[in-house]
Amino acid sequence: MHAGLNQLAQHAIFDRQGRLYSVVGRRVAGRLYRGAAAEVASSGLPEGATVLDIGTGPAPVVRELTAVRPDLRLTGLDVGDAAEMPYPHGAFDLVISSLSMHHWEEPERVVADAYRVLRPGGSLWVFDMAVRRFERFTSGVRMAFGAGPAHDPRPYGPLGLPLIVRFSATRVA
Ligand SMILES: C[S@@+](CC[C@H](N)C(=O)[O-])C[C@H]1O[C@@H](n2cnc3c(N)ncnc32)[C@H](O)[C@@H]1O
Repeated sequence: MHAGLNQLAQHAIFDRQGRLYSVVGRRVAGRLYRGAAAEVASSGLPEGATVLDIGTGPAPVVRELTAVRPDLRLTGLDVGDAAEMPYPHGAFDLVISSLSMHHWEEPERVVADAYRVLRPGGSLWVFDMAVRRFERFTSGVRMAFGAGPAHDPRPYGPLGLPLIVRFSATRVA
């Protein structure tokens, strides 16, 4: 796994919290983590493709992905300002995020920077609940990508309920 420096720093700072989160989070959201990783793994990304996970926390999706697609080059970013990420333009084939968007103070700026770091033809996939900050996120996607995100409910909630939505948008040029 190619882990971003910000992610490593975050793990060092929040090690105790992160470990507790991992145990609790896996019980509650394991279905989401496995499902999101399976979707990425089977999405047709070529060998060695680059994937960024924004708001990775203890990196549960990155860990699942490492197991099913060890060829991918994975980067996790947490808290380091996702509105001004330390990556060059067009660095990633896919940008993902799980259960983080509803925390973003300025979702429009995060989306704009996700667009910047995507290569043309690359996609943004955000797995979250269509609740807080959803409208600002949606309008941010419309501004950056030129069209609002597709909304696809996913059965990753407790008992397989479709409480999680995958929001997706593709950078055209
Ligand atoms: C509920 S946790 C989700 C962690 C992990 N992605 C998961 O699915 O379990 C939300 C994460 O988003 C991060 N976060 C919140 N706002 C952020 C921002 N503006 N930029 C980057 N990460 C952010 C938090 O630090 C936290 O680790």
